[in-house]
Amino acid sequence: MGKLAPHGTRLSVLYSADQIAARVRELAQDIHASMGPDLLVIPVLKGSFIFAADLLRALHGVGAEPDMDFISLSSYGGHTESSGQVRIVRDTEAAIAGRDVLLVDDILESGRTLAFAQDLMMARRAHSVRTCVLLDKPGKLAVGIKPDFVGFTCPDRFVVGYGMDVAHAFRQLPFVGFVEG
Ligand code: IMP
Ligand code: MG
Repeated sequence: MGKLAPHGTRLSVLYSADQIAARVRELAQDIHASMGPDLLVIPVLKGSFIFAADLLRALHGVGAEPDMDFISLSSYGGHTESSGQVRIVRDTEAAIAGRDVLLVDDILESGRTLAFAQDLMMARRAHSVRTCVLLDKPGKLAVGIKPDFVGFTCPDRFVVGYGMDVAHAFRQLPFVGFVEG
């Protein structure tokens, strides 16, 4: 079933806005049940910004009172193949030492981005570091990382929407889809 997206592209919907909203509420419950009250949520920008915003409000809905900071990492440089190199585009500002950190990312593919962020937070002496991804895309995992909280296990397609882009397009879509063809 195709859905017309910007630039005249047809997208197949993989996860609808309703499906995502329901799963985000479940994730918030799981996170709140298994992490302490002194939570520092750190979205890995840019792709996770919509997911993280919804997750934060869902965490509020289950009674959590998390702090937030942000890190911006880059590994793609505008292409759809990982370069294997992760670099910090914008770093966190909060003190990390002693905190229970929850890293939030849109999608785990090679795992390099999240492994890099996790190592960075451990090196800064976080008390604990847990990871939450909306999508886990197995099959291309190149490093040994297993996310603690996963929204959906995703087919091995290049997906867009709900914050995720291809060459900076499609982030505004309220669903996750892939380009048909
Ligand atoms: P990794 O470092 O290979 O795990 O790649 C993770 C990052 O690559 C994610 O945070 C995304 O920003 C980006 N990425 C990986 N797969 C996709 C995709 O299918 N669509 C959009 N971005 C993706
Ligand atoms: Mg990303």
